[in-house]
Amino acid sequence: MAKTKTAYFCQNCGAQFAKWVGQCSSCKQWNTVVEEVVQKETKSSWKQTDTSVKRTAKPLRISEISNDKEVRLNTKDGEFNRVLGGGLVPGSLTLLGGEPGIGKSTLLLQMALKLDLKVLYVSGEESQKQIKMRAERIENNTDNCYILTETKTQHIFKQVAAVTPELVIIDSIQTLHTDYIESAAGSISQIRECTAELIKFAKESNTPVLLVGHITKDGNIAGPKILEHMVDTVLQFEGDRNYVYRILRSLKNRFGSTAELGIYEMFGNGLREVTNPSEVLISNAAGELSGTAISATVEGMRPLLIEIQALVSSAVYGTPQRSATGFNVKRLNMLLAVLEKRAGFKLAAKDVFLNITGGISVDDPAIDLAVIAAILSSNADIPIEKGTCFAAEVGLAGEIRPVQRVDQRILEAEKLGFSTIYVSKANKIGLKHTNLELKLVSKIEDVVGELFG
Ligand code: TYD
Ligand code: MG
Repeated sequence: MAKTKTAYFCQNCGAQFAKWVGQCSSCKQWNTVVEEVVQKETKSSWKQTDTSVKRTAKPLRISEISNDKEVRLNTKDGEFNRVLGGGLVPGSLTLLGGEPGIGKSTLLLQMALKLDLKVLYVSGEESQKQIKMRAERIENNTDNCYILTETKTQHIFKQVAAVTPELVIIDSIQTLHTDYIESAAGSISQIRECTAELIKFAKESNTPVLLVGHITKDGNIAGPKILEHMVDTVLQFEGDRNYVYRILRSLKNRFGSTAELGIYEMFGNGLREVTNPSEVLISNAAGELSGTAISATVEGMRPLLIEIQALVSSAVYGTPQRSATGFNVKRLNMLLAVLEKRAGFKLAAKDVFLNITGGISVDDPAIDLAVIAAILSSNADIPIEKGTCFAAEVGLAGEIRPVQRVDQRILEAEKLGFSTIYVSKANKIGLKHTNLELKLVSKIEDVVGELFG
């Protein structure tokens, strides 16, 4: 019998130690190191039969490698395809992370039910009956989706061989366990080993595999960081559970851009793609109420108009409060300091609250000018004229800085019926003709003068 070998792993970062330590020297967390059995056996490939003939890969000149365009698998979900960079790549491993209850299982089951391909949906979390109940809630028009409740990888591969699916979905990687390792499901070594087996399966059979991954309370995908290195694509499903909007982002993508963004709306009968995000994210109240401003942002390749709300009120306590949802508080503090210094606003004695509506978060710097406009509008209690939007970054000297893809932002604003857009004077505008009135500004003072002067 093979000698059982054990090692100590940090459950937080996945670092390996030869003996137990109280503090992980790699991530500095206390009490996260546990003993796990790493049983090294000679193991066969995911396909137990095929061990004898092994083709060995030969190095090729890059010009010799055939570049037949990889046929991507259309997931029939426009948003998902976009985030992946045009569909699933055969033989790729995609990890979908997100908080519990955000809708990961719903998203993948819904996709599985929409596809004409043969899909194997393996769940270690819900029974077949429970999945059937979920499937009945959402639109369901295929009979090609097989549901399997199983957590042992060896059994899963046996079923895969029987069903020969064209897409495999695993919900979730943390529930899987393999015979080759003795530690509990969800432990570092189990996750690492199961993922390695799945990768081998995906690459050898050229079947795409979608994995669901849980995230820890600080927002990282549970398990070792190495999991993210092993897979080809890491997607994150996020949003505020109290809002209907869900955002799909890609954090890593070997086959496409990571700047793309997919937006969904959660209904009682599943997720719906939001194809006109700008329209749903803007309320009609803008232009009538003080403290709201519209920003023309770009997320990935897609222009997105979003509404920013600010509330400025007198501070009750000595230290004024600054709070922001969907926007970086540090950036808010910086913008407030710029306003104080360059535009002479006495905001130090005011509480400032900022909110990006729809529960989405934005990190496009072009949102700065709209944030400032919303704050000024709330401070003065004067609404910003209807039909006005903003797209510019604000620098520390109070200068209005140019942003990229300004033409795209202008076109989107025009499409949604806006009449005026504030952009930086330094921005090169390539558009020959636009119905929008372009306000070219270079300093914060110009903006204040134009808006409230
Ligand atoms: P779920 O997919 O189970 O989340 P995850 O797998 O990420 O943990 O989604 C659960 C939530 O979604 C639950 O709070 C109910 C809601 N939901 C709907 O609003 N409509 C639906 O059609 C479904 C299936 C779920
Ligand atoms: Mg789930």
